[in-house]
Amino acid sequence: MNVVISLLGSTLDAHGHGAMRWNAWRPSVALAMQDDLQFNQYYLIYQRSFQSLFDRVVEDIHTCSPETEVIPVEIPFDDPWDFEEVYSKLYDFSRKQNFAAQDHDFYIHITTGTHVAQICLFLLNESHHLPGILIQTQPTKRNPAKGAYNLIDLDLSRYDLLAKRFAEEQTNDVAFLKSGIATRNRQFNKLIDTIERVAIRSDDPILLTGPTGAGKSQLAKRIFELKKQNRQVKGNFVDVNCATLRGDQAMSALFGHKKGSFTGAVADRPGLLKAADGGILFLDEIGELGLDEQAMLLRAIEEKTFLPLGSDKEETSSFQLICGTNRDLESAVANGRFRADLLARIDLWNFSLPGLADRREDIEPNLEYELARFAKKSGKHITFNAEAKKCFLEYALDPATDWRGNFRDLNAMIVRMATLSSGGRIDLETVREELTRSRKARPLETQPDLAALLGPDYAERIDFFELVQLREVLKVCRASRSLADAGKKLFAVSRKAKKSSNDSDRLSKYLAHFGLDFHAVIKGTIDR
Ligand SMILES: Nc1ncnc2c1ncn2[C@@H]1O[C@H](COP(=O)(O)OP(=O)(O)OP(=O)(O)O)[C@@H](O)[C@H]1O
Ligand SMILES: [Mg+2]
Repeated sequence: MNVVISLLGSTLDAHGHGAMRWNAWRPSVALAMQDDLQFNQYYLIYQRSFQSLFDRVVEDIHTCSPETEVIPVEIPFDDPWDFEEVYSKLYDFSRKQNFAAQDHDFYIHITTGTHVAQICLFLLNESHHLPGILIQTQPTKRNPAKGAYNLIDLDLSRYDLLAKRFAEEQTNDVAFLKSGIATRNRQFNKLIDTIERVAIRSDDPILLTGPTGAGKSQLAKRIFELKKQNRQVKGNFVDVNCATLRGDQAMSALFGHKKGSFTGAVADRPGLLKAADGGILFLDEIGELGLDEQAMLLRAIEEKTFLPLGSDKEETSSFQLICGTNRDLESAVANGRFRADLLARIDLWNFSLPGLADRREDIEPNLEYELARFAKKSGKHITFNAEAKKCFLEYALDPATDWRGNFRDLNAMIVRMATLSSGGRIDLETVREELTRSRKARPLETQPDLAALLGPDYAERIDFFELVQLREVLKVCRASRSLADAGKKLFAVSRKAKKSSNDSDRLSKYLAHFGLDFHAVIKGTIDR
């Protein structure tokens, strides 16, 4: 059985007088004129004030299609332009009729003219509250009264086209967040996908964690730019490194001050929170923020108000907060250096950006990106020749290369090679020189400070014989990503001979012998 649901149009359905009406475009009647689509039941929604128009239209429907049973649905809309009212009344109607439980072919009529009720029918259909497919009618030149119709199944192909567009837009947004770099690491791509969804849909705080140079600051900026493109923010991107906010100045820089509130306050200062009104406040290295500032900040996020220094008048500012940190905030909370309530508030969305060593497959696409950046800055297009690229990638992908500074390291290496290259090409020799240069620079960083790790009197307690070995082991640890990674390097021979089954265990036992663990070695000091 075919069932159609339609709305009586107070203007269009009233077109034409007397016999002339049969030449006029009247959508509700036109539905009944379609000879290849017969309706058994026709729910016609109308308002009491249009009763006589309704009667006339029903009569004409019968004339065109005597088989069709018209079911009058009188819905009183106090204000037909009030979206909420119209939606809820149509929703009640569809629930009361319980269409969803009936095994009929339902059609929802959508036609010319803008009408809040039509939009509501569409929404109800789209959300599956009202079953069926959309029947869209419009007049044609050849047949102005009967017009033509189109069937649109929101669940099927046509809608897929729209869905495809949305998907394309989403893909564009994701590419934008990745600065157009064709990254290959699955986990990283998944992470950016999620960040894109959150960025577009929410203005709750976002916490970006990860090692230095992993791209937290850059990502925060891209999130802002994406939102700006989508007109989701009106204000500015205010970028603050909390490590640079110290002492009395910190409060005033963030929350502003009144003229004369302290020596040196020669004029009013609105502060950074105010500057971020309507935009995004990016608090980088949030772990460095003082406890007093943390308390003020918490209130500013929760209530959107704060008190500038020396002022008795609350200021308001509405901004999205993005925080960055390479510190473990949980342990900062445990040590009393970070407020637990603030952490709970800012880590609603907590995204941890992996370091470059954990996404080595992305190094190659990033080479191109770095060269493009160099070209933009210097005006010189530089490329690698094939063997030079191969040599560089071998180094880049070697597990022994730690990429401690992450993108900063990569960027610095490319900039040096591009600058030193001649004829627009980075050749093998340039790469080799660069590798020697950066390998030379590395050991200094990995050199452990034994006094800090073992205590100042270590030389009196431990034989030089043992220290020689320990120093080398610590260097390897400090050049490794993890205990397992270091274990793999240190016990490579026994591993090959299958003598050692658990490198990590063996290494941690060795370190424990000196009262050390991997974490302390990486940190360079031991908590005493
Ligand atoms: N996805 C990326 N691909 C390539 N380069 C990137 C990427 N993300 C960031 N960079 C570059 O790497 C450098 C460091 O990035 P950024 O300052 O965002 O790191 P960070 O995580 O904020 O570091 P820190 O913890 O030290 O503040 C910048 O020069 C930036 O342009
Ligand atoms: Mg940063």
